[in-house]
Amino acid sequence: MSRTGALDLGSGVGGKIEKKDVQSAVEQYEKYHACYGGNEETRKNNYSDLVNKYYDLATSFYEYGWGESFHFADRWNGESLRESIKRHEHFLALQLGLKRGMKVLDVGCGIGGPLREIARFSSTSITGLNNNEYQIGRGEELNRSVGLERSCNFVKADFMKMPFDEDTFDAIYAIEATCHAPDALGCYKEIYRVLKPGQHFAAYEWCMTESFDPNNENHQKIKAEIELGNGLPEIRTTAQCLDAVKKAGFEVIWEKDLAVDSPVPWYLPLDTSRFSLSSFRLTAVGRFLTRSLVKTLEAVGLAPAGSQRVSSFLEKAAEGLVEGGRKEVFTPMYFFLVQKPRQ
Ligand SMILES: C[S@@+](CC[C@H](N)C(=O)[O-])C[C@H]1O[C@@H](n2cnc3c(N)ncnc32)[C@H](O)[C@@H]1O
Repeated sequence: MSRTGALDLGSGVGGKIEKKDVQSAVEQYEKYHACYGGNEETRKNNYSDLVNKYYDLATSFYEYGWGESFHFADRWNGESLRESIKRHEHFLALQLGLKRGMKVLDVGCGIGGPLREIARFSSTSITGLNNNEYQIGRGEELNRSVGLERSCNFVKADFMKMPFDEDTFDAIYAIEATCHAPDALGCYKEIYRVLKPGQHFAAYEWCMTESFDPNNENHQKIKAEIELGNGLPEIRTTAQCLDAVKKAGFEVIWEKDLAVDSPVPWYLPLDTSRFSLSSFRLTAVGRFLTRSLVKTLEAVGLAPAGSQRVSSFLEKAAEGLVEGGRKEVFTPMYFFLVQKPRQ
């Protein structure tokens, strides 16, 4: 059921977009961003289209290069990338105090890699909320393949207007997903509404750190590259996220940028100056081979026209992420654990 082969990569580019329309979808996507003349306001006003186009175009690359969980992780020496990703997920389960029978919401669940891991780790029943139909289809297939189709489900909806009653869930988490929200406060307020009183919400947010200087051109270039390569309307600072979560009504239990203490930098797998056999596809040689593969698949019609352009904006994103990580102006793991007050 996993789709990590070369042909899966080629045939998956575009997701639910008609193959003949992929090229123009790439063009429309690029135009949202600063280097192609786009601006923040247009991205925010069209956030659903921006994000859906991005994940239709990029999901098969994510599965091919990264796996079923689409997030980074802090990492200990001696730990493999895969182990660190799972531990990063288990950490959320532990922080939220997940227990058998709890009803949990995963906000912006991707194809459900974390959902499956956390559900099995904690014996909880998890609903994955996602606005991307292609990813939900993949998630359902993968849930069936491991026997989780009865206890876990997916709901296709926008996390800015969730189709759930208030006080529905015993716990909520979001992994590197709410950064896609056009407005953090609006998104956190929705999470607050559907969480039961006294219960917890935990998140890993993508943020610009305190070291980010908005007047520094290089910092702005890094930010724009990350936005372009990741379907983001605007990357907020850690302070803005903390402020928004408080304004939504939550009490903060603790918060920290987990990247700060990570013995192995989170961006190492994307750093082309190192080599790893276990994540070979992410290395310089692996990426060169992927680029050549995508070019060939596109030339023979096994990947839609426009695939190479997707591959190249994802590479740009990787460069921005590595530079942002090295300069410590960006983090994908600003963690917070917050509680909805008992009423
Ligand atoms: C980087 S992926 C992370 C996925 C998942 N949390 C994981 O770690 O594997 C971000 C996810 O957020 C979802 N998303 C973005 N904007 C959304 C919205 N407005 N409503 C619901 N889901 C959204 C995307 O479709 C994607 O699945």
